[in-house]
Amino acid sequence: MRVSDAITGRQSIRAFLSDKTVSDEQVASLLNVAARAPSGSNIQPWHVYVVRGERKAAITEACSARFLNGDEGAYEYHYYPRAWREPYIGRRRQTGFGLYGLLGVDRQDVASVQGYRVQNYQFFGAPVGLFFTIDRDMEQGSWLDYGMFLQSFMLAAREAGLESCAQAAFCPYHDSVMPLLGAPDEQMLVCGMSLGYADPNALINTYRTPRLDARDFMTVLD
Ligand SMILES: Cc1cc2nc3c(=O)[nH]c(=O)nc-3n(C[C@H](O)[C@H](O)[C@H](O)COP(=O)(O)O)c2cc1C
Repeated sequence: MRVSDAITGRQSIRAFLSDKTVSDEQVASLLNVAARAPSGSNIQPWHVYVVRGERKAAITEACSARFLNGDEGAYEYHYYPRAWREPYIGRRRQTGFGLYGLLGVDRQDVASVQGYRVQNYQFFGAPVGLFFTIDRDMEQGSWLDYGMFLQSFMLAAREAGLESCAQAAFCPYHDSVMPLLGAPDEQMLVCGMSLGYADPNALINTYRTPRLDARDFMTVLD
């Protein structure tokens, strides 16, 4: 697979074949590739927890229950801007409304929206869940490194025929997730991720998000 094909062909997958498993060896081999991502002074600020079986089910149960009870939880770090404004709010709406439109989810119908969003906590049916954490005394530079690591992992997965969906949806429930991972207090949850084989028949997996053209964000200076 060409690097450009791995990048442009990646999309967030939100329906997986639950019966097609991914071994710990496979995950470790992908992580070994991703760990070649650069990081300032090569400090490699990542910790990764791989969950399956009972542990994964316990996380699903805890997060789904909180979500369905209307407990919004609280982010430990600000993933999104505190005050939404254009052009970002518009792009966000385009993504959300596009997905809901495709699936026939009525935005005004709370049960319908919840029914869609709760699938995050079911790892969209994936056989494996991953949780990425960082030591809380690491600075913004390490978060920059982390993004490279995450993308490298998702691209390495594609080469192996696997797909993924990065998930910040777990972050508000870090106080449920981190103890279930046995993660120490010094660590902070960066995000979760679903990993597995894409369900080729799922409508949701046909959703492709647009991108700006380079001319719209590039400034050339002579
Ligand atoms: C760090 C990160 C967290 C994300 N969190 C979620 C999430 O919780 N749930 C979800 O369905 N998608 C999540 N996404 C997927 C984004 O919505 C998606 O990447 C974006 O809409 C672009 O679409 P694409 O990945 O298909 O190219 C996340 C993506 C990233 C990079």
